[in-house]
Amino acid sequence: MPYAHITGWGMAVPNKVLTNDELSKMVETSDAWIRERTGIRERRIASDSETASALGAEAAFKALSMARLLPNQVDLIICATSSPEYIFPATASLIQDKLGASNAGAFDLLAACTGFIYALDMAAQSIRSGALKTVLVVGAENLSRYTNYKDRNTCILFGDGAGAFVLQASEKPGGVMRSVLHSDGSGGKFLFVPASGSHSPASEDTVRNGLHFIHMDGKEVFRFATRVMAQATLEAAEKSGWKPDELSLVIPHQANIRIIEAAARGLKMPMEKFFVNLERYGNTSTASIPIATVEAVQVGKLKPGDKVVFVGFGAGLTWGALAAEWTGPILPERTIRAEWFKPFARVRSLLRRLLRMLEGILFGREP
Ligand code: UT7
Repeated sequence: MPYAHITGWGMAVPNKVLTNDELSKMVETSDAWIRERTGIRERRIASDSETASALGAEAAFKALSMARLLPNQVDLIICATSSPEYIFPATASLIQDKLGASNAGAFDLLAACTGFIYALDMAAQSIRSGALKTVLVVGAENLSRYTNYKDRNTCILFGDGAGAFVLQASEKPGGVMRSVLHSDGSGGKFLFVPASGSHSPASEDTVRNGLHFIHMDGKEVFRFATRVMAQATLEAAEKSGWKPDELSLVIPHQANIRIIEAAARGLKMPMEKFFVNLERYGNTSTASIPIATVEAVQVGKLKPGDKVVFVGFGAGLTWGALAAEWTGPILPERTIRAEWFKPFARVRSLLRRLLRMLEGILFGREP
């Protein structure tokens, strides 16, 4: 049975920074309150062109370069997102087109902020079963498009960004170990976008009443999160045969520093073992764990052979954790700049559209 190794990682965030001071001019809040209650100092806000798929593709190109792979070597793209560009097609398909990943299947996975953990688990299972060799997992968000900048309860929290991992099959032991995935749909209304889906399609009323924005009962989500983070981390570690004190690092969903501190207390682990960068990006939902991972590697906090647990929670309610032995690139050293293939991917996409048009003109629309 092959093992599933994490061999590439990348991130992309918008250029525009929205600081707490700027927010305090939009709603009744203050930098001091936000920092004390959440730990967040600033977040990134996407421009019109920095769509979820654009950010996702940029992160994916970097992850592929890190893994020394070309886009056409990817078998499957899973995009975990809470802010897809459309209800359909999947944001994963848009990313596939932007990458020119001509041999990849693509689908979106919705488990809100826990989505990246769910997607990693699905990718690892596909590899461990022997069905696939290379899977790209992307967490990509444009949450600012769903954020009500008149609601101080939510607008202080969320930011935009994307992160990506490449998972590859190898006979060498290690890589993704065990995971736990949980859901409690009875808490669905604590964090949700009331309209947009088939339950409440867009209407004048839904727009007037702000039902296309994120609605949240912060206290309930906070209570739930502090209960499940430590427990899920422990479950994933124990299923992998590890004790908490053997863990080199925990990379938690970056929602609120107080939630992470509660998890550390619950696990009786020092905060130094938890990677935190939420002060600069806020809560980027499915992108927060891969973005934190990229930065953890950059500052030398995560090295090959380290035992790491990724843990998340979010709307659904959902929560989960995944344990892995950190690997790094497994292919022989060679310089690959996957992003150089961007223009080829664009030309490929244009040619395919043109061909489809020509086919329509020449042969009509009959099958
Ligand atoms: O991926 C999952 C995403 N969601 C989460 O992770 C959310 C989890 N929840 C939280 O992070 C916290 O509940 C919040 C940060 C949202 C709120 O913090 P809190 O410590 O739970 O504050 P609170 O809701 O208990 O509010 C305390 C006070 C209230 O005033 P009163 O009633 O005591 O006078 C609020 O009206 O703070 C007030 N308040 C604010 N004041 C300044 C609420 N939001 C703000 C604000 N600025 N932005």
